[in-house]
Amino acid sequence: GQKWVRLVTAQTPTNIAVIKYWGKRDETLILPVNDSISVTLDPNHLCTTTTVAVSPAFDRDRMWLNGKEISLVGGRYQNCLREIRKRATDVEDKEKGIKIAKNDWENLHVHIASHNNFPTAAGLASSAAGFACLVFALAKLMNVREDEGKLSSIARQGSGSACRSLYGGFVKWIMGNNEDGSDSLAVQLADEKHWDDLVILIAVVSSRQKETSSTSGMRESVETSLLLKHRAQEIVPKRVVQMEEAIKNKDFPSFASLTCADSNQFHAICLDTSPPIFYMNDTSHKIISIVEKWNRAEGTPQVAYTFDAGPNAVLIAHDRKAASELLKRLLFYFPPGAGTDLNSYVIGDKSILQDAGV
Ligand code: PMV
Repeated sequence: GQKWVRLVTAQTPTNIAVIKYWGKRDETLILPVNDSISVTLDPNHLCTTTTVAVSPAFDRDRMWLNGKEISLVGGRYQNCLREIRKRATDVEDKEKGIKIAKNDWENLHVHIASHNNFPTAAGLASSAAGFACLVFALAKLMNVREDEGKLSSIARQGSGSACRSLYGGFVKWIMGNNEDGSDSLAVQLADEKHWDDLVILIAVVSSRQKETSSTSGMRESVETSLLLKHRAQEIVPKRVVQMEEAIKNKDFPSFASLTCADSNQFHAICLDTSPPIFYMNDTSHKIISIVEKWNRAEGTPQVAYTFDAGPNAVLIAHDRKAASELLKRLLFYFPPGAGTDLNSYVIGDKSILQDAGV
């Protein structure tokens, strides 16, 4: 038989929401109850690398995540694969002598190898980078001619937050109105150069897998939290407008107060869920107190904090000076090797560590 293999490798950074997505109105299509806004991280740090391969020698679709084979049966991977396959077009690689016609794709199988350079499912949005990277790599492999908006709506069907990782910089996931999800997609608000003074530091409080997955957490919140309804209908629509304005004007005080308030409201909804969900722990709370006290003492905010479905703190500093000062403070309160809960730091810029005397 034919012995060729066609390979494509892609790398996608994760994103961190500053206005959170929490709650689905449709679980199959993954349609949210509110818009959300995120910042995409620097690709050198938290990212997924995915290689997709197609060959007539493959007898079924298979996938390996961090070196371990996982099942592709049912659900989200199938949805992404199906949506990309539907849009596959002719591929010709003259160098390798490969020619795949549009109609061949339905009978060809893929092998997928995906690797995260950070802890999987520990509240560091691994699924966001993962599904965005998978969809992007498959689209390249199959020569799909769709824009990023369309690809984002396909990635959304893998993991909601993944739709925001198709772009760098600041990104908004528009919830959309259509029942079929066709208008629920991501758009770029500003590219990565727009506000590049910001420094993002992640304090890894725990790299253990989270206890409540975002899928079941959201379901329970939608079913039981009245605060969630209020947030989706009354709070987020206004907040999204204010956040877009703050990003456009690089208005750090507004950006920081909106980011912190929105993270706290998301965790309040988790507490308002029955049974309550606890994603933050004592260390997370201590980090909030340190940042709040410092911001108040300075008179103008230096750092914003935000927490996803886990205890790790994502800290966004106004500039390098503030980031360096932040790191000094964290090292003071959580001295390395003193048995504190703070494991390590992932940082956007290594030279900050030098500034802080590490
Ligand atoms: O896309 P999911 O199912 O991993 O959900 C992500 C939910 C949060 O990270 C808590 C918020 C967000 O908007 O990313």
